[in-house]
Amino acid sequence: MKDIVVIGSLNMDLVMQAARLPKLGETVLCNENYKMIPGGKGANQAVAVAKLGGKSIFVGRRGNDSFGTTLASNLKKSNVITNYLTIDKKSPTGMALVMIDKNGDNSILVSAGANRECCKKDIDKVIPVLAKASILVVQLEIPFEIVSYAISLANKYNVPVLLDAGPARKLPNNIFKKIDIISPNETETEILIGVKIKNIETAKIAAKKFLNLGVKTVILKLGEKGALLATGKEIHYVKGIKVKTVDTTAAGDAFTGALAVGYAQGKSLLESVSYANYVGALTVTKLGAQSSVPTKKEVEIFMKKK
Ligand code: RIB
Repeated sequence: MKDIVVIGSLNMDLVMQAARLPKLGETVLCNENYKMIPGGKGANQAVAVAKLGGKSIFVGRRGNDSFGTTLASNLKKSNVITNYLTIDKKSPTGMALVMIDKNGDNSILVSAGANRECCKKDIDKVIPVLAKASILVVQLEIPFEIVSYAISLANKYNVPVLLDAGPARKLPNNIFKKIDIISPNETETEILIGVKIKNIETAKIAAKKFLNLGVKTVILKLGEKGALLATGKEIHYVKGIKVKTVDTTAAGDAFTGALAVGYAQGKSLLESVSYANYVGALTVTKLGAQSSVPTKKEVEIFMKKK
């Protein structure tokens, strides 16, 4: 299998679990002590790629601090290639405050730190690898200018681009035609194109809108309801898999990593989405971001049981 290049963020997640999330101006006590767990959308996706058997190359920026060291060694432990992880001398490593309620749903605040300093030079270092990669995976947790630069380079070398559109923000219309696969969740879809997904019919409307903007393949992550896959030729709804939810953090990242691996292995789009759906479901059964991403073996066992 050829390399999968993931360009994006890495954060130390400060995870707090409580019965419910605080309202504005309110203080809520947690049930347990906080935990520090490696996270960041880019790093989570790179770890998912590696744990699922892909050759994962991560490109990002961390601070020159202990969180940065821990995150880098966790990436290495997960078999992610970290040669393109730059150490920023001024900014701290990115950090996220992840608040989880009793249903496993979360609210996340991110302090970008070194992620914000990602620059074109960081991306240029990986060009020889990117030019021969099977797919480029990007998200929106580093400056958009850099994401856009990476996408243009991938286009130049005919490397397909998978955009995981979190954290969502309005994007310029001209970016969509440069994207081969977009995989937003319901919230991200509403921010990106203004369509509120309430059911499968509205999901189909949203997918069409992305296709009309120039994206080649749309994969809408519908949480416990599963996923919708749409191209100019086919449209499929893949049902959600019932599990006991502990924490939904990084389920979308694991889903995206699984999609990239499926693509790199030459699976059909539908096979890849169906596999990613199992990976996402298994991820919500454990606490934390990178700690909850399953291995290839764990997914195989889970798929046999379901
Ligand atoms: O997608 C989950 C991730 O979002 C967390 O790990 C947190 O770091 C934020 O980037």
